[in-house]
Amino acid sequence: MDKEVAAMPRHVGFIMDGNGRWAQRRNRKRTFGHKKGAEVIEEVVNECFLEGVEVVSLFAFSTENMSRPQEEKDRIFDLLGKFLKKYSKKLVEEKIRLIVSGDLSPLPQNLAGECALQMAKTAGFSEKTLNIAINYGAKAEITAAVNSLIREGKTEVTEEDIEGRLYTGGLPPVDLVVRTSGEQRLSNFMLWQCAYAELYFTDVLWPDFHKEEVKNALVWYGTRKRRFGGV
Ligand code: IPE
Ligand code: IPE
Ligand code: MG
Repeated sequence: MDKEVAAMPRHVGFIMDGNGRWAQRRNRKRTFGHKKGAEVIEEVVNECFLEGVEVVSLFAFSTENMSRPQEEKDRIFDLLGKFLKKYSKKLVEEKIRLIVSGDLSPLPQNLAGECALQMAKTAGFSEKTLNIAINYGAKAEITAAVNSLIREGKTEVTEEDIEGRLYTGGLPPVDLVVRTSGEQRLSNFMLWQCAYAELYFTDVLWPDFHKEEVKNALVWYGTRKRRFGGV
């Protein structure tokens, strides 16, 4: 295969944006949008694995999202915990390894506990990985990686050192980023891992993002010519 011609991405990252606007357009509370948004996650993830994607990363809640009203945060955390609980059967059946990226210490105990439980239960799987970013920020991730190396006595670090300390250590880099809702920015999402990612932006709001939309993004990815700095 011509290595310049992209086929199926190994790793796809989704910036699941637009829940609030989806609800506001229906004169509903933002939290209703989060509920609907949580409902499409399973369909999107399943479609990716069905198409042969190895790693799916989901941006569910950023470090910056901590500044949102407590009621909205509580609802999002509750929905994420419920999603994980419901999806846990699938994780085992389909041998999907779960990684949760982010600082889980300030999260409600039921969510943090569910994350830890499902990560431990699926740690032995390697073919498919679901990475959910909760209270995650790329800058915090990279800073923590460097600090952990310093604590070990390193005075100089390599790219491999840093990479090994990221939540995604050992996984392939992100090939394709999909962001919904028309925003064209990364908002501190996996900056290191996305260094050479193709960026796909769609106006579709996350609660309306179904498997057909996943297919559209993957087809678009297939048309990209990845050069990695070469000619
Ligand atoms: C994405 O939807 C979910 C999170 C960031 C937690 P938003 O809540 O950002 O929805 P909009 O962007 O306000 O429409
Ligand atoms: C990015 O969306 C974070 C998630 C999707 C979890 P935001 O809605 O927080 O991003 P900004 O603030 O519009 O950049
Ligand atoms: Mg948003």
